[in-house]
Amino acid sequence: MASIAGDTDTQPAQPMHPSPATILELAIDLARKAGAIILEGVARPLDISYKGTEANDPVTDVDRRSEAAVAEGIRARFPDHRILSEEGTTGGDNPHWRWIVDPLDGTVNYAHRLPFCCVSIGVEHEGRIVAGAVYNALADELFAATRGGGATLNGAPIRPSATEELRRALITAAVGPWEAAGRRFERARGLAPHVQAIRELGSAALELCYVAAGRIDGMGGATLNAWDVAAGMVILREAGGQITDPYGDPFAVDGKHMVASNGRLHGALMARLHDHSSEVPPKPEQPETPAPPEQPATPAPTTPTSA
Ligand code: IPD
Ligand code: CA
Ligand code: CA
Repeated sequence: MASIAGDTDTQPAQPMHPSPATILELAIDLARKAGAIILEGVARPLDISYKGTEANDPVTDVDRRSEAAVAEGIRARFPDHRILSEEGTTGGDNPHWRWIVDPLDGTVNYAHRLPFCCVSIGVEHEGRIVAGAVYNALADELFAATRGGGATLNGAPIRPSATEELRRALITAAVGPWEAAGRRFERARGLAPHVQAIRELGSAALELCYVAAGRIDGMGGATLNAWDVAAGMVILREAGGQITDPYGDPFAVDGKHMVASNGRLHGALMARLHDHSSEVPPKPEQPETPAPPEQPATPAPTTPTSA
């Protein structure tokens, strides 16, 4: 259980109804149902189409089927709750409750058969994320949390890493296909000499859970959407990690840009992300290597003459 740095205000005066535990139970159930759909798609050809003007953003039939299953489950139980889901499904108009769903986070990985993806379900009550479930069916790993109730992986409590030095830190970047490639590499270039390694893994929701579970020490995210982060942010905070905007201010679910960490590294990570003096060091001058000594010409073989 952790203090909720970055969440907006105090606990509500009235007990929440339904309770966060009830909400989480449904979120977990639906995440597992979506996970079964994701798992089934692994073994068969996918129907892939492309969204957006750049035709660079794939969506598969599995994204849509997973979304339909989650939305159906929410509507069956809470028909008036609002739904914000990546592929466009909506719900009721209850002003207090909103389910924020990414039916398949890591679609590019999934379409390429890379086993790093998940379904992510975050639930917001009056502007605060109160429950989150992230399920990676391919690894059978379920991350879950309620606000004030702690975070778990497959039922066991999780904590972020104890890493205190950036040079020992594994950092990931979730910067989206829309960020100009130049800026993306610029930022990673500035950070790279100061950390152990940088990775771009392709599922922001799962990466937040990995920070929560101590597998990754920190991450930076840009141009993200609410469905990428809603569940992961409550899981990370409840595990004891930190998530802020890139200036250290509270991160809101629709904030787009964020820095997440084990907490210990947060200041150092942000400082480096803002440190524009971190240029790639110039290539060291190569000492002049003397030219290899000339080899004496090999005498041409003589053809023996017959007597
Ligand atoms: C993407 C992943 C990725 C992040 C992108 C997202 P999708 O989600 O979370 O890590 O960098 O910005 O769009 O499209 O696979 O659901
Ligand atoms: Ca996503
Ligand atoms: Ca998605």
